[in-house]
Amino acid sequence: MSGKTPLVYVIYYSTFGHVEKMAHHVVKGVERSGVDVKLFRVAETLTEDILKKMKAIPKPSDVPVIKTEQLTEPDGFLFGLPTRFGTTPAQLKALFDSCGSLWLSGALYGKFAGTFFSTATQGGGQETTALSCVPFFVHQGIRYVPLGYKYPKINNNEVVHGGSPWGAGTLANPDGSRQPTELELEMAEIQGFEFGNLMKQIKK
Ligand SMILES: Cc1cc2nc3c(=O)[nH]c(=O)nc-3n(C[C@H](O)[C@H](O)[C@H](O)COP(=O)(O)O)c2cc1C
Repeated sequence: MSGKTPLVYVIYYSTFGHVEKMAHHVVKGVERSGVDVKLFRVAETLTEDILKKMKAIPKPSDVPVIKTEQLTEPDGFLFGLPTRFGTTPAQLKALFDSCGSLWLSGALYGKFAGTFFSTATQGGGQETTALSCVPFFVHQGIRYVPLGYKYPKINNNEVVHGGSPWGAGTLANPDGSRQPTELELEMAEIQGFEFGNLMKQIKK
């Protein structure tokens, strides 16, 4: 564990901005819990040409790209990811796959991680996307922290929303036209808040 105040890294990949927006609200929640937090993005693996064809949004210059060795620094991570065919996007998988030496040395053992996510549609793989990160966590000895039912609006079937006990989520629509709603952003903030509170309990 790091110094006295727990430290959380919120690390996301986003092509079209939905997960990025959620990440800022996750950060807000962690901050509200009184825990130190830093926001990072995952390195892009696609070429500029492909990104242009996909109409990807520009990457923010004020959010640093996470380096593999920096994963040893915090007590916990909250990973934000848009689904790719129901699983982890290659960009985040590339970060996971760069952790071979950290695995050998056990450097990530005992840390904590949660996930938040975005899919185009409700059946598009929110849970499987979160689940697809779990083997990496298990092999590294990282403890997976779900959101659970801490946020009662998860159960609200009157409004369409992303997110589940696995974590906060948003629905982007197949053409990316839907933006994270107030409910989804609140869920993201609560996930950050609860994760921060857990880090405080662990470090007592
Ligand atoms: C190659 C590719 C595969 C995708 N697969 C799925 C999918 O299986 N289910 C789904 O609901 N959305 C799928 N999507 C839509 C993305 O998940 C959506 O664009 C993303 O959640 C938006 O988040 P972002 O704005 O942070 O990039 C896919 C998008 C791409 C580019």
